[in-house]
Amino acid sequence: MKIEQRAAVYPGSFDPVTRGHLDIIMRGSRLFDKLVVAVLENPEKTPVLAERERVDLIARAVEGNPRVEVRSFRGLVARLAAELGAGWILRGLRSEADLAAEMPMAISNRLAGGRTVETVFLPTRPELSFISSRLVRDIARHGGDLAPFVTPPVAKSLRKALRGGGAPS
Ligand code: PNS
Repeated sequence: MKIEQRAAVYPGSFDPVTRGHLDIIMRGSRLFDKLVVAVLENPEKTPVLAERERVDLIARAVEGNPRVEVRSFRGLVARLAAELGAGWILRGLRSEADLAAEMPMAISNRLAGGRTVETVFLPTRPELSFISSRLVRDIARHGGDLAPFVTPPVAKSLRKALRGGGAPS
């Protein structure tokens, strides 16, 4: 019997990638043969970290995990999943508020993707459930300790980007 490769897409803004995201990536990579971390290039938003840097920081953090691939994307995540032949979209859940926000996305992605893509939710580890990229950016802007939230390379890039006034387009 031939077992097909099970591939999933883990989409996000990752501005910046947090310890919570990295935990979801690590645990998600055990559920699938291939996990593609997809960094959203959103022309309507100005991120703190440039798209290239967001991709590189994740790639550095997952180095050595052969199941994980990191790339950027534009447009619909459902379309990306179809293009990659990925049957699943992975998202982390920190709270009921996350679930409420994620449900319409999961349903829309299924419908937009021709009903070929299902969303799988992983509950965040409780000790990381307080972390969000928005909080991290705020703490970084005000010079707080970033160690509980992000890895040292991410903290360094974030501080540098904020000193320099944000991401180049
Ligand atoms: O890290 P975030 O900001 O919570 O991630 C949101 C993301 C990137 C998953 C979502 O905005 C997204 O999938 N955008 C791509 C456009 C799309 O597919 N929209 C329809 C479903 S929301």
